[in-house]
Amino acid sequence: MASPTESTAIEALLHEERVFPPDPAFTRNANVNDPGVYERAQSDPEAFWADWARQLDWIKPWDTVCTWDPPHAQWFVGGQINVSANCLDRHLKTARRNKAAIIFEGEPGDTRVLTYHDLWREVNRFAGVLKNLGVNKGDRVTIYLPMIPEAAVAMLACTRIGAPHSVVFGGFSADSLRERINDSQSKVLITSDGGFRRGNVVPLKAACDAALDGGACPSIESVIVFNRTTTDESQTPMQAGRDHWWHRLLEDAPRLVEPEPMDSEDPLYILYTSGSTGKPKGILHTTGGYLTQVHATTKCVFDLKDEDVYWCTADVGWVTGHSYVVYGPLAAGATVLMYEGAPDFPARDRFWALVEKYGVTILYTAPTAIRAFMKWGTEHPDKHDMTSLRLLGSVGEPINPEAWMWYHEHIGGGRCPVVDTWWQTETGAIMITPLPGLVATKPGSATRPFPGIEADVVDEQGNSVPPGGGGFLVLRRPWPSMLRTLWGDDARYRQVYWSRFDGRFYFAGDGAKRDEDGYFWLLGRVDDVMLVAGHNISTMEVESALVDHPSVAEAAVIGRTHEIKGQAIAAFVTVKDGTGATPEFAAELKEHVSKKLGAICRPDDILFSAELPKTRSGKIMRRLLRDIAEGRALGDTTTLADPNVVSSLKDRYESQEG
Ligand code: PRX
Repeated sequence: MASPTESTAIEALLHEERVFPPDPAFTRNANVNDPGVYERAQSDPEAFWADWARQLDWIKPWDTVCTWDPPHAQWFVGGQINVSANCLDRHLKTARRNKAAIIFEGEPGDTRVLTYHDLWREVNRFAGVLKNLGVNKGDRVTIYLPMIPEAAVAMLACTRIGAPHSVVFGGFSADSLRERINDSQSKVLITSDGGFRRGNVVPLKAACDAALDGGACPSIESVIVFNRTTTDESQTPMQAGRDHWWHRLLEDAPRLVEPEPMDSEDPLYILYTSGSTGKPKGILHTTGGYLTQVHATTKCVFDLKDEDVYWCTADVGWVTGHSYVVYGPLAAGATVLMYEGAPDFPARDRFWALVEKYGVTILYTAPTAIRAFMKWGTEHPDKHDMTSLRLLGSVGEPINPEAWMWYHEHIGGGRCPVVDTWWQTETGAIMITPLPGLVATKPGSATRPFPGIEADVVDEQGNSVPPGGGGFLVLRRPWPSMLRTLWGDDARYRQVYWSRFDGRFYFAGDGAKRDEDGYFWLLGRVDDVMLVAGHNISTMEVESALVDHPSVAEAAVIGRTHEIKGQAIAAFVTVKDGTGATPEFAAELKEHVSKKLGAICRPDDILFSAELPKTRSGKIMRRLLRDIAEGRALGDTTTLADPNVVSSLKDRYESQEG
């Protein structure tokens, strides 16, 4: 990040001219097609959100829409509501009763369909199991499961009895699991014997045993184990008195559990997000406001209709899985496709085979996946009929304009609107996004704040940056699904999100620019911004210029220390299958960036790499690339999906230098 004595704004260098206005036929049928919605929401945001909250079933109406005692907001104060009742019971009174709620496909190809009635029944029974084990309102439950319907059942059962859940991604290690259990002081741990990933079994129960070993998690009283991967129960060691099979516990559980009336501000869940350094932050979400915003955004951003087959590819271990696999779509009565495994198993067309098989209409995935598909080539989607698709979404990282175009053309057949949605674990729900029937899209831009959201781009002092300029992305007003605090650490909550601008607004940690049309362009985390010869340059823009070359699939850019310029640009580049990674090509790429963004952005080093170091949720870890480029010992690599990628890159970088 630039210090105040240096250049204070982030430069905005990338110019994107392409614009895709909504198709009038799409607009005609869109859930939101009245452009007045933006103005109405802006003039009275509380009334806008209250209208959405009224679409849910409340046990007791609220007295006050919002109270704001910075940095703490409360929404729908005095109201009582239950999340599982809104995702399930509410639909049983309608034709959705027998509609598919979850269509599940396991990686090995096994399938299951749960109607809303089926899911309601399973959630009731499992809520009974939790009650039998002594879980009461307010007790925490940790969930460590693969992407199987039981993950949704477990989450919804927790909400039914008012026990906040903490879902831990199944790809995390025993150490990470232990740390999260102990921070949340969970009473029960829900897991499975394993899950399928790339043809192998991920041994989840064994990881739980390692996490709990030697009494390392004293708060845990019971472990519930779902049998996913074995036919023979005796293959899974169970500790008597502590471990119980899910299916056995169901035998003695009550079949009906009334939804617990929850105060709107009662905790709904904790979700840990690992900052780039330090102990994971337990993001706390509460009940009424969260459900209101995930429901509203699901309907408006994805234009969700009853007849849609909706597929969000995120794992339930991430916030996207919470808000847009489980709570938003089920509150909206959607049919949700859930897939357990990897996109390239047994072959690189698995996603497209699923789209064809189930007639998926809405697909929501991440740029990291889109760039992998680009690298693998168009022959995989081309094999399948994907004409059922009508809307595409992107989330998790800035999407490079060329990846956006590839997604639009090769997956969407040029006819589907692409919604690039900016938000965070902390925001709980989508914040900046096009409304597909109203907003013309520009490749690489998340476009406008959702109605009722007030986002801004400011400089170091917190002054709004005029159109065309770059700076820090901030949120000026509380929103219903905002985090309420960090679990057990309000001081850290204030420090991380509110101290940067003296409590005046929420600081998201991202850089952004706004163009003349008021469109937002996300520039990546501000910690990643480079300072080259006095210019603050976004890694995202240089990466996009590299990906703009037809032979490049993915790029990660960092600044390394340079005697004269302050920082020099180093690029790690993955080429598309079939392209030669030669020194001539590196020279061509440097020239390409220089033409696109200006000579100041010309990379000093280019290193080709088949893989880039990523977190388990697919974000590129530039911090480690900086360690490599500066010849430092590698920092913490525990959150990497594949630690080998970075050690081999380090060896290659050093041998190239020598
Ligand atoms: O840097 C932004 C990036 O992901 C961060 C939030 O990550 P996480 O809490 O893991 O949540 C991911 C799913 C919501 C943001 O601070 N990010 C997310 N979506 C976008 C994005 N950056 C640019 N464009 C996006 N659409």
